[in-house]
Amino acid sequence: MAARFHNIVVLTGAGVSAASGLPTYRGAGGVWEKHNVETFGTIEGFRRAPDKGWQLFGSLRPMIEAAQPNAAHIALAQFESSLSPQVRFLVTTQNVDGLHQRAGSRNVAELHGRIMRSRCDAGCGQPALDDSDVYVDEVPKCPSCGGLWRPDIVLFNEITDVEATWRTKRALRDVELFVAVGTSGNVSPASSFVRWARDMGARTVLVNAEPARDEEAFHERLYGKAEVVLPRFLESLA
Ligand code: OAD
Repeated sequence: MAARFHNIVVLTGAGVSAASGLPTYRGAGGVWEKHNVETFGTIEGFRRAPDKGWQLFGSLRPMIEAAQPNAAHIALAQFESSLSPQVRFLVTTQNVDGLHQRAGSRNVAELHGRIMRSRCDAGCGQPALDDSDVYVDEVPKCPSCGGLWRPDIVLFNEITDVEATWRTKRALRDVELFVAVGTSGNVSPASSFVRWARDMGARTVLVNAEPARDEEAFHERLYGKAEVVLPRFLESLA
């Protein structure tokens, strides 16, 4: 059945990494249940109190470093490598954990950046650097200009990564199969991708533990754990 689709886009969210032991954002035990989103999740909050921001994002780093890709990440990577070169396949992710690439996925667009990298908030020209430091004692400074040093992730009230967003939009222009996995559908622009995909005539499939926000936009809704349901679904396409 995969041969029916020449352009496939898979959108992933925090639910895909839940089986790797990483917290989701919303719902019981979610990051925004434990931490005030205004203070910890917005760019304004981070600039006002970067020590608090680093407390949260720094604490996620060792957890993410220790996490291993689970069956959902691995199934996506294996599916991609099984495709013929004529099929275009993109994983566009809201996750900042890098687990898709660690599982072997090659074509990944990271809409919200990557937490194991840091950059200058002032945009002084200092390139972003791989960074696993947790900065518990003091707020770090940019090594070039001394400005605020921040995790290379997208916070609320910032735009998503430009390059990743364009790659996704290009893929959505003629997408034939769109699958959203492990995302509650609350955050833009990813939440609107399903509508774009539908407008382009794509078949749209949701794989999620529970109903998502705009779920009526999906032709097919598969409720369950991504690490169980996604491998089966991808196998059914083979
Ligand atoms: P959410 O936490 O909003 O949603 C995760 C979804 O995954 C929920 O609907 C859960 O029911 C579902 N879920 C949990 N475990 C699952 C599993 N094992 N299998 C399948 N589904 C499961 O996370 P996102 O939608 O990814 O952005 O959140 C989007 C963005 O909001 C994040 O990237 C982050 C956050 O604020 C920023 O920080 C900018």
